[in-house]
Amino acid sequence: MSTALYDVIARRRDVRAEFTGEPVPDDQLLRVLEAAHRAPSVGMSQPWDFVVVRDQATRGAFRDHVATERDTFAASLPEERRGTFDKIKIEGICESSMGVVVTHDQQRGGTHVLGRHAIADTGLFSTVLAIQNLWLAATAEGLGVGWVSFYREEFLADLLDIPEGVRPIAWLCLGTVSHLETVPDLERHGWRARRPLTDAIHHEGWRA
Ligand SMILES: Cc1cc2nc3c(=O)[nH]c(=O)nc-3n(C[C@H](O)[C@H](O)[C@H](O)COP(=O)(O)O)c2cc1C
Repeated sequence: MSTALYDVIARRRDVRAEFTGEPVPDDQLLRVLEAAHRAPSVGMSQPWDFVVVRDQATRGAFRDHVATERDTFAASLPEERRGTFDKIKIEGICESSMGVVVTHDQQRGGTHVLGRHAIADTGLFSTVLAIQNLWLAATAEGLGVGWVSFYREEFLADLLDIPEGVRPIAWLCLGTVSHLETVPDLERHGWRARRPLTDAIHHEGWRA
């Protein structure tokens, strides 16, 4: 058994504050995107695309939009939760080396996608698997990734000229990092902790 993969899985972190902003060599970025592109997909539909965003003006516009959505979420919180949330950084859009926006095209593969007829979401699941591959490959490369979801899809689709029917699934901040934290940010800041594995495993039926 090789322990390398387990080690990468354990080291992977959602990064916000640790980006250094150094450039990522093209061949390194390509290896990470190649890993994402090797993800399994329902009926081989490969419904993902990757939009690499380096332009600071585009990133600035997205960062401002995310700040507005952060305020919307904060306003929905009870006071005690709000105090905890205020201390949490939720993005590293401008500090990272680049953004990689992963999109999902539910029409990819046509109408007869093998394995999707009963569960439409399997298309979306495939795109999310590409994201996980990207995240792990970046970790193996010594890079960091931070998933940003504080946005309205219409805003991001407009900003990046994403065609109708294609959904922006994630803005991933990607780049060089000073280090990876060993404990998730949300746990360190007292927002929410990981649940024990024993709680997640069931035998023979969900209620057992
Ligand atoms: C679908 C998804 C959306 C997320 N959106 C955000 C986000 O908008 N901002 C943020 O700071 N972290 C975001 N995260 C990161 C999670 O907070 C993080 O994965 C979780 O706290 C566990 O920490 P870890 O990834 O470092 O293990 C997101 C993660 C996922 C899977």
